[in-house]
Amino acid sequence: MKNKNVCVLGAGQMGAGIAQVFAQAGYSVRLYDAFESAQEKALAGVKKSLDKLASKEKLKEKPDEIFARLSFTADIKNLKDFDPALIVEAVPENFDLKAKLFKALDESLAADVFFASNTSSISITRLAAVTKRPELFAGMHFMNPVPLMALVEMIKGMATSDQTFATMIEVAKKLGKTPVKAKDRPGFVVNRILIPMINEAFFALEEGLASAEDIDAGMKLGTNQPMGPLALADFVGLDTVLYIAEILHNELGEDKYRPSTLLRKYVEAGWFGRKSGRGVYRYDS
Ligand code: CAA
Repeated sequence: MKNKNVCVLGAGQMGAGIAQVFAQAGYSVRLYDAFESAQEKALAGVKKSLDKLASKEKLKEKPDEIFARLSFTADIKNLKDFDPALIVEAVPENFDLKAKLFKALDESLAADVFFASNTSSISITRLAAVTKRPELFAGMHFMNPVPLMALVEMIKGMATSDQTFATMIEVAKKLGKTPVKAKDRPGFVVNRILIPMINEAFFALEEGLASAEDIDAGMKLGTNQPMGPLALADFVGLDTVLYIAEILHNELGEDKYRPSTLLRKYVEAGWFGRKSGRGVYRYDS
């Protein structure tokens, strides 16, 4: 890359986490979100996470030094002056929203800037095609919570050049992450396997196979997962799980991917998991 300036689009949990790991790896990061109100929560979250990692002696620098490499803007015009070498998009999973941003930045930024999307469910090929630089476009799918999770799925779109893909994989390694290469297919690797597992846990709960606690304890203790599938669904967000399950079902076209009715009911009830205070479990605090 031409320099170590990176713009991250979207200051939600994923965007803030991505911005943090780039800053930790020595990059200068400009975090963009159209909502000025996103700034406070995002930066407070990064600060808290950096302090936690520092208390465990997991940082090479002081949290303040890392934090100083991070700036926020709610004005997209401020991205051009920053002269980024790479854009990493992590805005909500909506094709039109992402396409609009990529199109605008494709027009305003230099022709050699790499574009990456953190999408978990939208085709990289389709997103790249809205720009005039599809060969410089790839998928970089981070896992939640970004600062703790070792994986980045790397997705090569139809037009992504070998050179771009190799450059992005190097970037993922510089972040201290382990890249896994995946084809541009619905769900890539992790969600293709994870979401049907979570969905199956809802089918099991629906048919009364075991209680939610026992389904989770069984999978946690029996397969050494840090969280059971239902607790993980609450962590990811049941609306997100359902959305990805629907994409797998619609795009892969097989009945085995059909979302459980119980999962749908939770989402219809507004029980999205941790973020709404109630999902399969209650989070009253
Ligand atoms: N930054 C720094 N530290 C953090 C942190 C963060 N963002 N989040 C949690 N921690 C710390 C906690 O403060 C806690 O510290 P102490 O040990 O000092 O108390 C420590 O990490 C452990 O956290 P918890 O006690 O809350 O619980 P835990 O031991 O279960 O760990 C976890 C939490 C890392 C999230 C672990 O449960 C886990 O790995 N769960 C599975 C996560 C997973 O599968 N993620 C992928 C989701 S799928 C996805 O992201 C893709 C998609 O497209 C849907």
